[in-house]
Amino acid sequence: MGKGPQLATGEDARVQEKLRTSGEIPGHIAVIMDGNGRWAKKRGLPRTAGHSEGVESVRDTVEACGQLGVRYLTLYAFSTENWKRPKEEVSLLMRLLLKALRDETDRLHTNNVRIQAIGDIDALPRELQNELLEGIQRTKDNTGLTLILALSYSGRWDLTHAMRRIAREVVEHGLTEDHITEEMISSHISTAGIPDPDLLIRTSGEFRISNFLLWQLAYTEIYITPRFWPGFRRDELYEAIRDYQKRERRFGMVSEQLHGSQTEVGAGRFMKSLTGQ
Ligand code: FPP
Repeated sequence: MGKGPQLATGEDARVQEKLRTSGEIPGHIAVIMDGNGRWAKKRGLPRTAGHSEGVESVRDTVEACGQLGVRYLTLYAFSTENWKRPKEEVSLLMRLLLKALRDETDRLHTNNVRIQAIGDIDALPRELQNELLEGIQRTKDNTGLTLILALSYSGRWDLTHAMRRIAREVVEHGLTEDHITEEMISSHISTAGIPDPDLLIRTSGEFRISNFLLWQLAYTEIYITPRFWPGFRRDELYEAIRDYQKRERRFGMVSEQLHGSQTEVGAGRFMKSLTGQ
């Protein structure tokens, strides 16, 4: 039997099928997982309990995305700014990430998930780097969901890093300003070769991008839920996708251009008559 995600069953399978037939499943979903601390505080628990429960949300979200046929899922697991948190919390998060990778890589591999990472990976503890690189190497030929972990990542870090590489190439290959195009920049950022996110989900009701994929989110649809990340499960993922399916993505154009309506055909003829082309 070929590799693939464990299939959804019962009512969940029916909900997933309905989502697939009612519209497009976003190819790339990015998530700002926020509110672990507040979730814990509300329950009189230490912040660390929120992070641990957050791993359960990651597990459920990854599984549901794989089953639905989402191609890429990017999770903002640790930002450049998160290094400024108390030392104990940083250390706990690093251990939690290490444990999650150790515990989950086998299952991810069986479910045909390909692991990738973006961010300043060299800044992570050596043990975590090794586990991550091993997971990436082991799952690199998988053809299902690509799970991208943003670790020690920030959008500004990404762009700065890309600009440095471009500057080096300008010097080494004598490039001119015409060589600097949007495509060139896209091919130098950490997500080179990966389509931009179609949908960004942010939990805990904050209306911010928080230095996430600044370049890549240019035309991404945003879904914000008041739920804290540890309380996020696949039902809310489905709700985000339903909401996404109702949106009209115009990429700066007008609605008629997208739908090829009579108005557009008429407008096209009118333009032709003016330009003679
Ligand atoms: C934000 O909540 C969450 C984080 C900084 C860490 C997210 C990490 C996990 C869920 C751990 C597991 C991840 C993977 C990929 C296995 P917060 O601490 O900022 O919450 P607050 O805003 O309520 O304080």
